[in-house]
Order: sequence, then structure tokens, then C-alpha cells
Amino acid sequence: MYQLNFDLNEFLTTYWHKQPVVIKKGFVDFEDPISPDELAGLAMEEEIDSRFVTNLDGNWKAQHGPFESFDEFPDTHSQLIVQAANHWHPGLRELAQPFRVLPNWLFDDVMICLSMPNGGVGPHIDQYDVFIIQGMGKRRWRVGEKGEYKDANHDSGLRQIEGFDPIIDDVLEPGDILYIPPGFPHEGNTIDVSMSYSIGYRSPKKQELLSTLADYVLTNELGDVHFYDPNLQTRDEHGMIPTSESEALNDMLMKLINDPKIKARWLGEQLSQSRHELDIMAAEPPWQADELFQFVEDNMVLEKVSGMKALYHENDLSVIYVNGEAIELPEGCEAAARLLCDQEAFTGEDLGEMASNPALLALLLDLCNQGYWYPQA
Ligand code: SIN
Ligand code: CO
Repeated sequence: MYQLNFDLNEFLTTYWHKQPVVIKKGFVDFEDPISPDELAGLAMEEEIDSRFVTNLDGNWKAQHGPFESFDEFPDTHSQLIVQAANHWHPGLRELAQPFRVLPNWLFDDVMICLSMPNGGVGPHIDQYDVFIIQGMGKRRWRVGEKGEYKDANHDSGLRQIEGFDPIIDDVLEPGDILYIPPGFPHEGNTIDVSMSYSIGYRSPKKQELLSTLADYVLTNELGDVHFYDPNLQTRDEHGMIPTSESEALNDMLMKLINDPKIKARWLGEQLSQSRHELDIMAAEPPWQADELFQFVEDNMVLEKVSGMKALYHENDLSVIYVNGEAIELPEGCEAAARLLCDQEAFTGEDLGEMASNPALLALLLDLCNQGYWYPQA
């Protein structure tokens, strides 16, 4: 079990979205949740996003996985990166647990870097909040002040910048954590063969909200209504758009955007989508209703697919949003929203009286058969 050695609330007040910071011994007696060999194994998988970055003689190069073998790869000036490792490896799911008190809708993934001496990805800026946890080995990290920086090495496929003056320059050892808010330039350089784990958070941009709302409206054929003004009168200013009419058009748009159901569904569906592939496997053969019933009776554990987002709105627990899909809970089963969304797993006992609700059992059967929840072995 991983446990943070600092107060996350104090951290949030002082640093979150504000300042980078090194938290020495953020984890005490840190043990790597995965071995370098296992990580290399993940980077060989088709559905897992991986990269290998080299900087031999200052020549930056990035190759994308899956990789067939690592025999030819240099053992200095290189780094192997695996994205969303928490979706595929139980140890990384564990490592993300202490951060579950931060909202799941902001959480992105756990990225792992296996870095060889002098390996890194060069100076760059991310639009993520990230906790970089140092596992085995040692890396020197430099972080600069937020600001405008010149792009560099365009053709390497890396989004590098030229350089920056450090406000942090520190060597991270096992269990140390570096937090970097979006927009602060940073660069890690490796001293001893290292494993590091980036717990990433990403908040949406205004333009993404608008474009996903537009997609939602079009997909669901909403707002297919023209402006309507039965009181139109003549005017001398043929070319003018009267303020009252531009306001009326704006109101028309705002009514659509502020429709409570549209707002809730679009946002729920949008925020519950994962940005990385998930390990979802439909149940084969599908569960039968009586098997699930027995399972619940026996108080067994149903576990959520690792990294899959399940969310609900504070003011309406009757709808949950699972992996981008709105699902209405049966009447009287609002408490199930918390079990399904706030918890990684739940038991038959957790369901209480809801365990005898056939509509809820049918819903759980469907979720299990789609592979979203599965019986813990
Ligand atoms: C690295 O560990 O070098 C890459 C992680 C990052 O800078 O975001
Ligand atoms: Co970065």
C-alpha cells in the first residue's frame, strides 16, 4: 500500500496550479510497483502507447512503440516511456490510490519513464499538472519560471524549448516527488538508471468544451430550430444588426447551452471519456442473471476496469456516466452512483437493499458483460 508522507490539502493550498515544488520523501521507503523488464514488456503491446527517446551526441530522436526488442537500444542517453500504465498493471493502479482524493474527472494517467544515464526528453513545457515520483535510481530535475519560451528541435518529434533559468535544481531520490503545474518549463536528466512515475492531471480548455458541446448537440440532433421573430418591422438601416436582435440570437444559443439536461449529459459524457486505451474485455461467455445474483449473494467483489472513469453530478445521482456513456439508474438506486463511481470495487453487501432490485441487477449484468466491471479473482 502506498501512502503519502505529506498533507495533500496543505499542498493544494500552497502549490496546486501555482508553484512547482520538490517534496523530499513524499513516499517513505518507496518500492517500485513494476520492474524495468515488466515495463519493457508493456512497451511491446500493440494497444499500449509507448515511446523511446534518445539524445546521442545531442541528436534528439523519438521512436514510437510497440517495440519488438530492446537489444539494439543504447543503454545511455535514452529513455523508454509508457503511457497510461495504470490501465494495464495492478502495481500502477496501486500507486495512483493515494491520489484518489483528487477528482477523477481531472485525472489523466500514470506514465512511466525508464531512464538510462543522461536520458531524458529535453527541456519542454506540459499543459498538465504532474506529480513525478522518483522510483529506483536518481535524476536531476530543473524547473523554470512560467513564461514564453522559444521552440527547439522541431523535427525530433519532441515538443522541446530552447532553455530556461532554473528556479528548482535538485536531485530526486527514491520516494521524492516533484510537482509541476502546467506551463512551467522543466527537464529531467538521469544520473543512475531510473524509474519514475508521472501522475498526470489535465483540465479541459475553453475551446475543447465548446467543440465537444457542439459535437454533442449535433450527434444528438439538438437545437435544430431557426431564429423566430413574428414581430419584425421595417427599418431604414438595411445593413444594421440591431443590438436587440443580436442579443436575441445570443439568448437563443445560451438557452441551448444552459439547458440543464444538455449541460449535464454533455459534460458527464465528455469528462468520463478516457484519453487512453483501456483494458476492457467483454465477458466471454456472458454472465447469466442467476450467476450474477449468486455472486452478489455470496458477497463477492466487483472491480472496475483500471483507469476507467465513472462519474456522477453532485445534484443528480440518478444518472451515472461510464466511459463516455450516460446510464440512468433504476429508481431508488441513487446510492449505487457512489458505489460505482467513487469506489474502485464494491461487494454484494455494499448494495444493501438494492441487491434485490431486479432492474439494478440487470444493469450490473450489462456493465459486467460489457467488461466495465469484473469479478475480482
Ligand atoms: C521525463 O521523465 O523525463 C519526462 C516526464 C516529463 O517531463 O513530463
Ligand atoms: Co514534462
